[in-house]
Amino acid sequence: MDTPLEGKTALVTGAGRGLGRSYALHLARLGADVAVLDVNLSSFEEYDAERSLMTGASTMAEIEALGRRSIGLEADVSNRAALQKAIQQVDDAWQRIDVVVCNAGGGLGAPPETKASEVDPGLWDAVLQRNLYGTMHTCQLVAPIMKRQGSGKIVTVSSQAGRRGSADGGYAHYGTAKAGIIMYTRYLAQELGPHGICVNCIAPGFIGTGRLNVLFERTGVDRITSQVALRRIGTPEDCARVVGFLAGPDSDYVTGTVIPIDGGSVS
Ligand SMILES: NC(=O)c1ccc[n+]([C@@H]2O[C@H](COP(=O)([O-])OP(=O)(O)OC[C@H]3O[C@@H](n4cnc5c(N)ncnc54)[C@H](O)[C@@H]3O)[C@@H](O)[C@H]2O)c1
Repeated sequence: MDTPLEGKTALVTGAGRGLGRSYALHLARLGADVAVLDVNLSSFEEYDAERSLMTGASTMAEIEALGRRSIGLEADVSNRAALQKAIQQVDDAWQRIDVVVCNAGGGLGAPPETKASEVDPGLWDAVLQRNLYGTMHTCQLVAPIMKRQGSGKIVTVSSQAGRRGSADGGYAHYGTAKAGIIMYTRYLAQELGPHGICVNCIAPGFIGTGRLNVLFERTGVDRITSQVALRRIGTPEDCARVVGFLAGPDSDYVTGTVIPIDGGSVS
């Protein structure tokens, strides 16, 4: 495998399991040293499917087994002071952050209870905090480091839910947060472009992580894939390869974009 990220350092938030773990491992395979940030670095223990994927005691151990350096940081991305301390730790240790993937997030609550006219304000706040505010805090805290370097790649994470509304109006808080991330990305790209920093967003569709597979089984996989042109659920690796492209030199003239990774989903 080519190692275009040799000598680079990366930070992936929400990388204790799921998509974030895949991004961290893929960036390490491409040559980067990777800092792993999560509110719970052992979050993989919550799902059998995630635990069974682990080839080491943690994502950090898996990265080190690939011959790269890693730092584990336990912090909540919605807690700015804790996040600042964690990012400072990476800067102190490695003196640079070349790539950031703002992956921490996800929804809370069930679609029937989260319609736009009814969603509980507490749930609304929690989902905006972990997705939109967490992304904003992460970007604001790494921007000075990347400006100092005169280079950097930021990847933010939206969702197909941030690009179109659901048929029944459920999960409005999550869709609103993820739509906000798309616009935040575009503004940030305009601001940071003159500093040599690229900012792009990915918008995954139905991706089979341990947490989501439980929901997909409940809904019916065939029902879901009938709405997807490629007729399958996506894998974390489908997303990780796009993140690798956005983190590496092949995307040096790409900024301010949103890349759907949804197999041609129309749901
Ligand atoms: N899986 C999908 O189908 C899908 C589709 C579209 C978008 N996404 C987005 O991709 C990202 C990852 O999804 P996933 O399926 O891997 O989720 P997941 O729940 O399996 O993993 C999320 C990880 O983020 C951590 N995390 C959550 N809140 C945090 C916080 N406030 N601070 C720090 N860490 C936090 C969790 O502990 C967990 O380790 C999320 O932003 C999600 O919204 C996922």
